[in-house]
Amino acid sequence: MVIAVLGTGGVGRTLAAKLRELGHEVRLGTRDPVATRARSAETSLGRWLEQHADVPLLAFDEVAVGAEVVVNATRGTASLEALGAVGAPQLAGKIVIDVANPLQGGAGLPTLFVSNDDSLAERIQAAFPEARVVKTLNTMTAALMVEPGRLGDGDHTVFLSGDDAEAKERVRELLASFGWRDILDLGDITTSRGPEMYLPLWLRLYGHFGTSLVSTKVVR
Ligand SMILES: NC(=O)c1ccc[n+]([C@@H]2O[C@H](COP(=O)([O-])OP(=O)(O)OC[C@H]3O[C@@H](n4cnc5c(N)ncnc54)[C@H](OP(=O)(O)O)[C@@H]3O)[C@@H](O)[C@H]2O)c1
Repeated sequence: MVIAVLGTGGVGRTLAAKLRELGHEVRLGTRDPVATRARSAETSLGRWLEQHADVPLLAFDEVAVGAEVVVNATRGTASLEALGAVGAPQLAGKIVIDVANPLQGGAGLPTLFVSNDDSLAERIQAAFPEARVVKTLNTMTAALMVEPGRLGDGDHTVFLSGDDAEAKERVRELLASFGWRDILDLGDITTSRGPEMYLPLWLRLYGHFGTSLVSTKVVR
């Protein structure tokens, strides 16, 4: 599959590398490829780009051309802007895997900028009604997204939310190819509120254990 990953942070890079390893044709999206390359020369992103020369770094407005799947791994406060730069016509009919969290900074721990009766995933679906948005993978650190077996026996839970049953099935297959076994379809896109509102707890588990390698298991 041709997959456009929006986001050059740890999540975008981790997902892009895994998808490439699995044989997909992957592109990484950023606001300004020249500026991103220039500022990342001496950073982990610069090294990542060198090591993944077969993953082109493209501007948001070109990265999704010809892609079947678009992954939103941008900062939650910027996701609508980043997807807007991709453009509604480029998102129409495509599966948009939303892994972003609606977190905003400030003093202390980050807080949610949307919650209770709305979610970031719903805002994305509402802004791009022809996209097939599936929320998933936002409840764990990037390393676990692509390697659940890194924690315990790997049998922890990943959630799916979205209105399009076929899109969720395709995403379920991708998750299975990452090694996920307990894939829990919560329902339509409004069910994204649960996994997004889990973040305040996740942040405290991270603080409590002093490691990001924590996850959830739903015991039925
Ligand atoms: N870190 C984790 O382990 C983890 C786990 C679960 C979910 N998440 C979520 O996954 C997403 C990505 O997280 P991350 O830590 O990899 O990176 P991040 O620092 O949250 O986001 C980096 C990306 O956001 C883009 N961005 C920032 N400001 C922007 C703006 N004003 N307009 C357009 N794009 C903008 C950046 O574009 P440029 O490339 O142009 O700089 C970059 O590609 C976040 O929503 C985060 O909450 C993270």
